[in-house]
Amino acid sequence: MNDWPYPKWIAHRGAGKLAPENTLAAFRLGASHGYRAFECDVKLSADGVPFLLHDATLQRTTPEEGVAADRSWSELSRLDAGGWHSRAFAGEPLPTLDAIATYCIRNRFALNIEIKPTPGHNEATGRVVAEHAAARWAGETVKPLLSSFQPDALAAARAARPELPRALLLDSLRDGWLAEALGLDCVAIVANHRVLDADVIAQAHGRGLRVLSYTVNESDDAQRLLDAGIDGVITDAVDRFPPF
Ligand code: G3P
Ligand code: MG
Repeated sequence: MNDWPYPKWIAHRGAGKLAPENTLAAFRLGASHGYRAFECDVKLSADGVPFLLHDATLQRTTPEEGVAADRSWSELSRLDAGGWHSRAFAGEPLPTLDAIATYCIRNRFALNIEIKPTPGHNEATGRVVAEHAAARWAGETVKPLLSSFQPDALAAARAARPELPRALLLDSLRDGWLAEALGLDCVAIVANHRVLDADVIAQAHGRGLRVLSYTVNESDDAQRLLDAGIDGVITDAVDRFPPF
């Protein structure tokens, strides 16, 4: 199997639910619990700046409504992405991918960048995220792992920066999942923990692919996956799972 430089335990959306997801505050909170690897969701602003946000729309995690990708970065950068979570985080901004890169590189933290395109923007998002990641991590030994549920976003990332490692995200094991991941020259799949067992993990391992799982918040699920040979566990529960 391929060399695997990433820590086994990965904090979901920065630090899951204990701080506002996909903000630098969440990363800092995950790090305070000992986490050294993080997952985050990245999409593009109207003027092509890659930034962290899970949803296509703004209403769940900011005071604004509507499609985030319709706004320029200058507008998005002024939004409060923390107040929805709790008072303590009011005023926390949406981070750019570049800001998160600075934080992770300086601290030697690993990053799994989920390419989360706004519908209709799969290829541009894959390409721009790969270009930014390659530029920011130039000279670093451990590159970020680029993952996506969208095969065409991964194909665009490969066309732009083939040297960056990629992973296919799978919510279910659709027909041909293994061939699809191999066809995109992925180094891993990242699958919903409900569809993973020792047989599936062994199948992927047998073709040289690592296997990660999301979003694992119960200790029974974590133990089952660890026993089955999982390579990475993405969790919100950074306060309950020591990352060792
Ligand atoms: O990348 C793993 C996981 O984050 C995928 O689901 O919806 O939390 O982005 P979601
Ligand atoms: Mg995600």
